[in-house]
Amino acid sequence: MERTLSIIKPDGVEKNIIGEVIKRFETNGIKIAAMKMIHLSKSQAQGFYAVHKERPFFDSLTDFMTSGPIVVMVLEGEDVISKNRKLMGATNFKDAEEGTIRKEYATDIEKNVVHGSDAPETAAFEIGYFFNDLELHSR
Ligand code: CMP
Repeated sequence: MERTLSIIKPDGVEKNIIGEVIKRFETNGIKIAAMKMIHLSKSQAQGFYAVHKERPFFDSLTDFMTSGPIVVMVLEGEDVISKNRKLMGATNFKDAEEGTIRKEYATDIEKNVVHGSDAPETAAFEIGYFFNDLELHSR
């Protein structure tokens, strides 16, 4: 059993595909252990993406992530970190496999619809950034 953080980014919410993304998780045996819709402030987005703070795209990324509401979820299941990353597809949708969320719905490398933790350590940090223990529900 493993947990990961998933975000439906402002472009995914704007495209009205919240249900489409969640359906892909559920039909692939992934359970949702927590979920909420929030609108990040600039400093909250900077804190979440702190590992990227030296990258040239940091300012643009944190502007984008504050441009509208997002849906944050904790996904749970066996091998869920890599399962989720397979369902999302590559960061750059041009490199993503056919049938993945990003291949079908991303606009560019920044507006790529979804975020998913890339390792157990990042998952622990990212889940703790948005949820406390009382908000997590193993089923
Ligand atoms: P995400 O998986 O949320 O992690 C960092 C985000 O930065 C990434 O998805 C993209 O939305 C955004 N981004 C913008 N430009 C780049 C880039 N050149 N390389 C990687 N990520 C980028």
